[in-house]
Amino acid sequence: KVNTIRTIIIRIGKDSMRKGYFITFEGGDGAGKSTQINRLMEHLENCGFDVILTREPGGTDIGEKIRNIILDPENKEMDAVTEAMLYAASRAQHVAQVIKPAIEEGKIVICDRFIDSSIAYQGFGRGLGDSVSIINSYAVGEYMPDKTVLLKLKPQLGNKRISTREKDRIELEAESFHQAVFEGYETLEKMYPERIIGVDATGTIDEIHDVIRNHIDDLLGL
Ligand code: TYD
Repeated sequence: KVNTIRTIIIRIGKDSMRKGYFITFEGGDGAGKSTQINRLMEHLENCGFDVILTREPGGTDIGEKIRNIILDPENKEMDAVTEAMLYAASRAQHVAQVIKPAIEEGKIVICDRFIDSSIAYQGFGRGLGDSVSIINSYAVGEYMPDKTVLLKLKPQLGNKRISTREKDRIELEAESFHQAVFEGYETLEKMYPERIIGVDATGTIDEIHDVIRNHIDDLLGL
């Protein structure tokens, strides 16, 4: 048992020799990730970096197909373990086909959601716990993010922000589910203070951008 756990920790470690950078964005639905991702991209491109933007679930043709299955509101009978494995399957393809090659070429990869989404939504929201990290260790390998921006917004406020658009299967979940996800993210923030930058998402777009930019500039030595 002990050996298995050690292997998992080693497998999801970060390879410090890699050439590029990997930055992920996380947060509940409606926390404003897209706006902040676009602002950060603009900044990094102005600084002359080669930046690629990608997202989960999806990011590849195969991943987009998996995404449609996961988010289809008609798939009401989907089991929580099936759901967790589909997100991990989409992630495995995404790492192999997009994230790993770009990092190895020295690019900056910005990804809208990654492994922390699975831990928060499937681990905490669905109550699957640690098994989610184990499933995901196969998908992620050594490609853990260098930094993760967590936009923190209470679920009631996030829900208000997205109330006008059509909701997917996950967004349609009860408030208690979204509250568990929120608490999951807070737990992750405490567990990985070096990697996860928690930002209060109720600030103005400029205020939030400035906090994020300072952290990322530090990472890149700017
Ligand atoms: P999507 O519309 O792609 O993302 P966003 O809400 O960020 O615009 O929907 C993705 C949904 O899937 C979102 O509700 C979060 C959820 N999700 C998980 O439950 N687990 C995961 O591993 C990922 C990546 C997303």
